[in-house]
Amino acid sequence: MKRRPQPWIEAFAPATISNLGPGFDCLGLALTKLGDSVRVRRAIAPGVTISAIEGDQGRLPHDPTANTAGVALLAMLDRYAPTAGLEVTIKKGLPLGSGLGSSGASACAALVAADAALGLGLGHDQLVELAREGERVACGAAHPDNVAPSIVGGVVLIASVAPLRMISLPRPEKLWIAVYTPGCSVSTAAARAALPARVPLDACVRNAARLGMLIDALHRGDLAALGEAIVDELVEPVRAGMIPGYLDAKAACLEAGALACSISGSGPTTFAFSDDEARARALLEILEECFTNHGVAGKGFIDQVGGGARVSSAPLH
Ligand code: HSE
Repeated sequence: MKRRPQPWIEAFAPATISNLGPGFDCLGLALTKLGDSVRVRRAIAPGVTISAIEGDQGRLPHDPTANTAGVALLAMLDRYAPTAGLEVTIKKGLPLGSGLGSSGASACAALVAADAALGLGLGHDQLVELAREGERVACGAAHPDNVAPSIVGGVVLIASVAPLRMISLPRPEKLWIAVYTPGCSVSTAAARAALPARVPLDACVRNAARLGMLIDALHRGDLAALGEAIVDELVEPVRAGMIPGYLDAKAACLEAGALACSISGSGPTTFAFSDDEARARALLEILEECFTNHGVAGKGFIDQVGGGARVSSAPLH
């Protein structure tokens, strides 16, 4: 008897802004407008087969052991469904090497689709643990601050990685974010390798104080204090030099009334916060002008904090 093909299930996982100033490797938020979509269906052959990747200009590996979505799915099968097989197609909505959590979003979308296809019913903690395996292959470090908000949505603090402890913080509903990706790319591995192994104690103390202030500001819905807290003395000074025009763009945004302006993840995407949609649009124009003047014109949008990864299609045959 001929076996019917199994239905495809598609899931979407959003772009994320991680670090948010003082929260290096432990804080991130989900956006709404951009993300990756992944289709998964059960296959007869065990293991993971990536049959198509779109939107990556041929840059991503189809070998599942070298692809973030593939690695995350292999870890899922290993832990929860050792005899199962999956076929996968990936549609990249996110630019690679942009600092918007591109590698993480593919893994998160793949996991959510596979969880539905296999009927596993895994929780957020289990999905984030698996998605971190994808980050390990992408940049050598299983940092959780992109995949946690991409799975959970909203603003997420990763209080501990072993054991994993994620804390969802209050969502700043009135926050508008100008997000601009200059036309250059920064490899996360290189941006991490450039960081010092040791940092001065006084700067650590000030960063810790600002992270506390940021969390308090979210609880009180105080966007001005949130913006004031987004200052990082440990990582941003090193990475600013990797993004042509970043310091000018930041100064211009702050001058124009941005609540905050900083690097998204390892960059080069730069974000600016506002409590007003029209001002966020004006900030986006400033970012566009500054980066264009520095020869790295790119693309941007305005957005708000959004939800996490989700199944985006009914099963498709
Ligand atoms: N926290 C990570 C870093 C995010 O800044 O290296 C990478 O996008």
